[in-house]
Amino acid sequence: MKNAAFALIEPYVCDTGGLMKALHALQNAHGYIDAALVPLVAETFNITKAEVKGVISFYEDFRGSPAGKHVVKICQAEACQAVGARNLMTKARAQMGLPESDLTCDTSATENITVLPIFCLGLCATGPAAMVDGILRGRLTAEEFSREIKALEEEGK
Ligand code: FES
Repeated sequence: MKNAAFALIEPYVCDTGGLMKALHALQNAHGYIDAALVPLVAETFNITKAEVKGVISFYEDFRGSPAGKHVVKICQAEACQAVGARNLMTKARAQMGLPESDLTCDTSATENITVLPIFCLGLCATGPAAMVDGILRGRLTAEEFSREIKALEEEGK
């Protein structure tokens, strides 16, 4: 795995912003950035492991564990909150069986769905908004969204 990971990140060593490109390459290849690869990244870019971990934890798009088959991002910014976005998030998480108190738990037991907060998708006038597998959705109703979550969750059963 280390040789394959090195092959992915090595082309970016001399690039401006190369660390970000390298981390994206790892994330794109595996769906997440394995903590075991942090020392390799640090050594390759001649920086500390803490610096690598800092970058990974700062950017929400980097994951430390695999995401579900479908990724649902629900806007939690103010305009969407004003029209029910928190309710959508709460209901989606409950429907997926995720604990209310532990937001780090974001993937259903079936591993079909990962649900994440996002802060503004540029659809403020048509909230509540979400992105389902990269597709923007606006004016979501709780009922419609619930049906969609159910369908994604039951996929493959
Ligand atoms: S506040 Fe939700 S899309 Fe902008």
